[in-house]
Amino acid sequence: MVSGGAPRILGDVFCGKDLLVRTRVAIIGAGPAGLLLSHLLDLEGIESVLIERQTEDYVRARVRAGILEAGTVDLLKQAGLGDRLAAEGMEHRGIYLRWPGERHHLDFVELAGRSVTVYGQTEVTKDLMDARAKAGRAAFYQASDVVPHDVETSSPYVTFVDVDGREVRVDAEIIAGCDGFHGPSRGAVLGGQDWERTYPFAWLGVLADVAPSTDELIYAWHPDGFAMHSMRSPRVSRFYLQVRPDEDLAAWSDDRIWTALSARLGADEEGWTLKTGPITEKSVLPMRSFVSTPMRSGRLFLAGDAAHIVPPTGAKGLNLAVADVALLSSALAAWLRSGSESLASAYSDTALRRVWRCTHFSWWMTTMLHRHGDDFDAQLQLSQLSRTVASDAAASELAQNYAGLPLSI
Ligand code: FAD
Ligand code: PHB
Repeated sequence: MVSGGAPRILGDVFCGKDLLVRTRVAIIGAGPAGLLLSHLLDLEGIESVLIERQTEDYVRARVRAGILEAGTVDLLKQAGLGDRLAAEGMEHRGIYLRWPGERHHLDFVELAGRSVTVYGQTEVTKDLMDARAKAGRAAFYQASDVVPHDVETSSPYVTFVDVDGREVRVDAEIIAGCDGFHGPSRGAVLGGQDWERTYPFAWLGVLADVAPSTDELIYAWHPDGFAMHSMRSPRVSRFYLQVRPDEDLAAWSDDRIWTALSARLGADEEGWTLKTGPITEKSVLPMRSFVSTPMRSGRLFLAGDAAHIVPPTGAKGLNLAVADVALLSSALAAWLRSGSESLASAYSDTALRRVWRCTHFSWWMTTMLHRHGDDFDAQLQLSQLSRTVASDAAASELAQNYAGLPLSI
């Protein structure tokens, strides 16, 4: 079943498939990267078709990232996606860094001239899906066996089985691999190389119907492990606790979660009370750093989690996906509209410079804030935290990276 507008359906005579569709850009994956790319291409007058494995409802409901860099907010507003963001997004000047006996506010506006905005990935996805439906852009949800073909030629195509069991072929000029870490696109890159770091811990993520107990996010180092207090709205809070990668969720009753959060966030020590409420979602999130190079192979371009994963401590995953897509949409527009391939040729190198910077920042935040190693490592972490808040240069470095670097660095 095709959701949204009708792609150009050409029939089955030529390819032995049940359905042949022709478009300019075939986009695999309808996460934030794929949805935003289809939106930005549309603004350039370039037709695309989205091919997504999950149902529309599943994609709409996924709970993931929560912080938007200033550049991400600007881009979404410029792309006409800013109405709800402006009304419901919560602008934060900075974050709190805390460890036993200490709590410091880093003011990004003072340190880097930029703020960040709390607005969940779920909301960004909703805005993008609503814009897609309004514009009548085509998408195939619940597609299985999705495979990109002939990406090194000038006539690449994607095949899959649609929700009604029909074999579909989408012919395109470009394929965009926006299919996340587990999608098929990365494997189609010729001569690709992967770079990976796994971490000996994970996050227990908790969503709760309770007003935040803080005005801005708290990142807390604690001998029992890292904790974070984030939020989604004035009525919904988001929390994370460092746990083992193989942690059994069943071992975490709501009471145990609230007690651990309160202790690790330092509520008693600082004399405040962590507000509690019904927990509506909990899950264990693995942590890894991963970069796949290059991000282009012939007419296949990777964007977002398909090419790189960061641990969430630096709040970079979604923002990196948006930055890739901003670069890619301009590059494809220049190529497809005026035949100039130079931005497309530079795409992988330009995107990877920023990807590696964000990979380093996310690794650094993760390594500084999570309990791992021995007591010597813990002392080094505490020393690094003290330096980060005491030195303007160190604080500015964190602020500039967290609030977001320019697209091209
Ligand atoms: P995705 O959002 O992964 O989208 C990829 C899409 O491709 C999905 O819709 C998927 O269903 C689809 N797809 C996959 N395989 C196929 C296939 N074979 N055929 C067709 N479609 C396919 N980042 C943060 O900054 N903070 C966080 O707190 C945070 N929490 C996270 C929690 C989880 C559980 C995960 C997985 C990620 C989290 N992230 C977080 C990272 C952030 O959500 C991602 O960086 C962001 O979603 C990247 O967007 P994307 O569109 O590139 O990839
Ligand atoms: C979130 O709100 O989900 C969130 C915020 C900041 C992070 C990671 C996750 O660094």
